[in-house]
Amino acid sequence: VPQTSARDVLVERLRAAGCVFAEDEADVLLATTTDAARLDAMVRRRAAGAPLEQVVGWVEFCGLRLRVGAGVFVPRRRTEHLARAAAARTAPGALVVDLCTGTGAVGLAVRSLVGEVELHLADVDAAAVAVARANADPGVEAHLGDLFAALPERLRGRIDTLTANVPYVPTGEVATLPTEAREHEPRVALDGGGDGLAVLRRVAEEAPRWLRPGAVLLSEVSAHQSAAALAAFAAAGLAAEADESEEHDATVVIGTRPR
Ligand SMILES: C[S@@+](CC[C@H](N)C(=O)[O-])C[C@H]1O[C@@H](n2cnc3c(N)ncnc32)[C@H](O)[C@@H]1O
Repeated sequence: VPQTSARDVLVERLRAAGCVFAEDEADVLLATTTDAARLDAMVRRRAAGAPLEQVVGWVEFCGLRLRVGAGVFVPRRRTEHLARAAAARTAPGALVVDLCTGTGAVGLAVRSLVGEVELHLADVDAAAVAVARANADPGVEAHLGDLFAALPERLRGRIDTLTANVPYVPTGEVATLPTEAREHEPRVALDGGGDGLAVLRRVAEEAPRWLRPGAVLLSEVSAHQSAAALAAFAAAGLAAEADESEEHDATVVIGTRPR
């Protein structure tokens, strides 16, 4: 009789709890701990609906293993496209700012892809800033506050690459998100106002005063928001273009401050 492995048991429990990718999730759990009591506690939290990444406390993003805190937005695989698009436009030594940083994922990925950059992370949510700070290596600054108000004044007009994965779910659609997001991620991380672009517009309006001439602002949106986001960037005086990735199902809008 073939022996049932601990992994098989785990897969069955996850499947029974409704996890579609039960085998992948079992592997992530087993890569986190092999302690039976800890595993049991994690499966219970997962079965109760918490996102896997919050349960195990980490996520892989652009090859980095990042901490994820309870109540902090979980970086999505699709957002790797934003980080890579930003890195492709960033030279070593650049001043990089990641607003709406959450765990710090986008900014830290740019830094790891480009090499030496001066990096500042900022978020309005203290829980996110604490996690971002824990993820950052020494030399990276993490600031608490509303968009640009969080940043030190000395960065004004000097930023080379500005990333902002703003909340962009239209208010009326927040209720239709999966339970993992609705109940375990803060509303401030998801709700982008009536058409989802309220925070993006605020970022675009203020960005030209913080960017160096020729510098770029990059944000992720849904494909159907692309035209409105490009218009918002253009209205702020930025030369705007969209960069879509079919593979990642991701749309990034890029605005350049004219020279
Ligand atoms: C969609 S999450 C993105 C987090 C992270 N950049 C990522 O890609 O995983 C949006 C983040 O924006 C932050 N946020 C929302 N409104 C903000 C504001 N007015 N100022 C600064 N951060 C804000 C939220 O706290 C949340 O961490």
